[in-house]
Amino acid sequence: MVACNYHTPVLLKETISLLLTSRSGIYLDATFGGGGHSRAILDALDNTGKVIALDVDEDALKEGEKIKASYGDRLIVTKANYREVKKIIHQYGFSKVDGVLFDLGVSSYQLSRSQRGFSFQLNEKLDMRMDQTQEKNARYIVNTYSRNLLAEIFMKYGEERNAGRIAKAIVEARNRSPIETTGELVEIIKKVARGKYLTKSLARIFQAIRIEVNNELENLKLSLEDSVDLLNKGGRLAVISYHSLEDRIVKQFFRNMSTGETFSKMDVYSEARPVAMLRLITRKPIVPTKEEVKENPRSRSAKLRVAEKVG
Ligand SMILES: C[S@@+](CC[C@H](N)C(=O)[O-])C[C@H]1O[C@@H](n2cnc3c(N)ncnc32)[C@H](O)[C@@H]1O
Repeated sequence: MVACNYHTPVLLKETISLLLTSRSGIYLDATFGGGGHSRAILDALDNTGKVIALDVDEDALKEGEKIKASYGDRLIVTKANYREVKKIIHQYGFSKVDGVLFDLGVSSYQLSRSQRGFSFQLNEKLDMRMDQTQEKNARYIVNTYSRNLLAEIFMKYGEERNAGRIAKAIVEARNRSPIETTGELVEIIKKVARGKYLTKSLARIFQAIRIEVNNELENLKLSLEDSVDLLNKGGRLAVISYHSLEDRIVKQFFRNMSTGETFSKMDVYSEARPVAMLRLITRKPIVPTKEEVKENPRSRSAKLRVAEKVG
């Protein structure tokens, strides 16, 4: 396994063996992070194969700078949101790619060392922005969203059963003084969720706020469809997800695209019948081995799904 201080890549061998179909191909890594997957892709390609990698986080781009020297013009790392994936690929003069990888969620660096309040185990400023140039952050959401909206987010993005009570406790607390840190937020949640449910509730509420801050599910939905458009026939789309909301989106998308049920791009008045655009390579998601989970506990919830463009 390529261990890296910034982030240890998850399901690395499995991803590379299922994603790569051409040793001289062009691959898009939509979530560069510490570059573990990008490097493994480049190492498996011949010296004409290329990787174009994106990340919204400036700190990930700095990691990119460190490894660029080893690969020359075979590696492009650029700051971009993957919802703009088509624009970026075209900007760099490419029209199609041979594979696209999304490794969703946060990097270990973001969680443990970025000091941006992603973890409920650390007491940091409420931030949770992956892209530090965007305005909306966790502090804004926690201190200004209405009680109903907070409850809706906790329910929708955290599937938290105490959503309403936690939202109420947050509004009561912020009426006394603004909530500034993850530590303060944890104390508020602790008043509602106790005992064996506490850790799960903390994880769910933090996940929900992070999804809302970074518009994660919306970005994913938009970019999956664009990624399929970008693929050459025979090219593959690989997605590693870390929680059920992400995996549901990917699973549903793959199913629709492989049965031809996706109508979003079709003219409703058209006579044309929907055609299957993808063939499933993984019928069931691939999960990490026991050994990988032991070595890298953060991999435990990972699920890899891969599909190939046929249409
Ligand atoms: C799990 S990490 C990727 C780790 C990487 N595969 C590696 O091996 O180091 C996810 C990365 O995706 C980035 N990210 C999240 N949402 C993004 C988006 N909408 N556009 C581009 N990058 C995004 C995060 O900043 C983070 O660095």
